Amino acid sequence: MPLKKIYSSLPNSIKKKIDKLSFNFSHNIEEDFIFNSKVGKNYNLSTNDKKKIAQLLKHSISNIASATDINIHFLLLKTVFALNPKRPSTIVECGVFKGATSVVLSIGAKITGRKLILYDSFEGLPDGEKNISHRYYPHLRVTGSYKKGMYKGAFEEVKSNLLAYGDLDVCELRKGFFNKSLKKHKEKIDFLFLDVDLVSSTKDCILYLWDHLINGSYCYTDDACDIDVVKVWFDNKWWKKNLKCNAPGYIGSGCGIPISFAHSSVGYSIKEANLKKYNRISWLA
Ligand SMILES: C[S@@+](CC[C@H](N)C(=O)[O-])C[C@H]1O[C@@H](n2cnc3c(N)ncnc32)[C@H](O)[C@@H]1O
Repeated sequence: MPLKKIYSSLPNSIKKKIDKLSFNFSHNIEEDFIFNSKVGKNYNLSTNDKKKIAQLLKHSISNIASATDINIHFLLLKTVFALNPKRPSTIVECGVFKGATSVVLSIGAKITGRKLILYDSFEGLPDGEKNISHRYYPHLRVTGSYKKGMYKGAFEEVKSNLLAYGDLDVCELRKGFFNKSLKKHKEKIDFLFLDVDLVSSTKDCILYLWDHLINGSYCYTDDACDIDVVKVWFDNKWWKKNLKCNAPGYIGSGCGIPISFAHSSVGYSIKEANLKKYNRISWLA
């Protein structure tokens, strides 16, 4: 194994660079999005269609301030394209900022024949959480705190971004803090995306939206590395008390699902996964 020998004799800094490059070659999410024929198959999307969509995503992220990167945008759209074409329901996003992910989801909603409901204060974050003075991102060894008003994207600014880069026609923007606005939610949901930073906001979203999520559907969140937020998904006591069910758990806890090198900010939970659709495997009885 001469290559292995050469690799192991290299300084760590060079090894890291090689690791990163090789990860990008083997996990290029944009290439997968465009050239994987399964992506968008349900909606008859050709490679050329997906190339054009990829250009739209790149154009939008280079013009809208975003708290998420392009890999996450490709992942979100790939997930939307996997939704059932026969039973279209509603896509919901909580946590809009300037609308970067909303633009992506609006493109997906238009193509899959769905409505996209966007919830945000449009005034930025509410008061930070007094009991969490420092956020705890152990996998990244990162900390800091949230302040009221951070990540503000004004209602009109988000609307004009959707008009310029996405599909405003399929969107409904609902303004207000979640503990009030979400209480009125009625529509069934088949894809939920939360990017809300705080434990209290995550709990509000689950409290008022989980019952509307169709069984087998996915809830993606962009807070996979914040352990206090992730803990909510495993807090059986809280789920039993408020949702009358067991905590569903969270895939990607602490380091995100493997779509980027070293870590990603996204993970997901599934509502009542249908195990009948899962494959049997030799190492399980
Ligand atoms: C990190 S930003 C969202 C980033 C966006 N998804 C993107 O990719 O650019 C978080 C958003 O959550 C909203 N938010 C958080 N907690 C909220 C609450 N309790 N009520 C309403 N909006 C809230 C903030 O206003 C902010 O727009």
